[in-house]
Amino acid sequence: MRRPLVAGNWKMHGTRASVAELIKGLRHLALPAGIDVAVFPSCLHIAQVIAGLEGKAMAVGAQNCAVEPMQGALTGEVAPSQLADAGCRMVLVGHSERRQIMGERDEMISRKFAAAQSCGLVPVLCVGETLEQREAGKTIEVVGRQLGTVIEDLGVGAFASAIVAYEPVWAIGTGLTATPEQAQEVHAAIRAQLAAENGEVARKVRILYGGSVKAANAAELFRMPDIDGGLIGGASLNADEFGAICRAAGS
Ligand code: 13P
Repeated sequence: MRRPLVAGNWKMHGTRASVAELIKGLRHLALPAGIDVAVFPSCLHIAQVIAGLEGKAMAVGAQNCAVEPMQGALTGEVAPSQLADAGCRMVLVGHSERRQIMGERDEMISRKFAAAQSCGLVPVLCVGETLEQREAGKTIEVVGRQLGTVIEDLGVGAFASAIVAYEPVWAIGTGLTATPEQAQEVHAAIRAQLAAENGEVARKVRILYGGSVKAANAAELFRMPDIDGGLIGGASLNADEFGAICRAAGS
């Protein structure tokens, strides 16, 4: 069985004071056994969160990393080796906000994925279609291409120590959630694409769902056979709500 993972993507939110409050709330949570929990604060707050969550079974990750693994002349970027040195264990790559707003392309995302792995970080590859693409019946094709680029560039073996997150763009921050059946269909297609290359990797890889997940809809999503947890945006900024989503993953 795959161990569920609930991950909170804090996006570009937080001040030192609000992050301190959130850490306090997270420290108080009674987490269910048998699941993994991670949070992804802004880079600026990573050190604060790692120190604040010391002794709590929660991994900390970054929301982005440079295409080059090692430190060097790359103004404004953070190297995966620096993230690992800071105590990060994971990093999001290819979040739709970075694809859409920062213009990140599949080829660049593959490089970030590889750079992260070379520093011992677990990449969380985010994939997902826009509303227009869904309405044109292109969901599986679009997600397949996003995933396929990384498989082609790095080989399916790269997914033995990686996580995939399916986040339909139309469901992010909109309050619209994919139905459990809509999400399951795409998760199954992602797993099948990996299975076509390597059955064992496909069986073991965790595929998270993201897009307006909250305590009220988490359980029905997590019940689907190929949904192995969630990547939570807005609801992860509230410790109690995040805790309730973690409990849904543990039940
Ligand atoms: P919301 O949960 O706010 O819709 O965001 C999802 C997301 O983008 C997580 O990475």
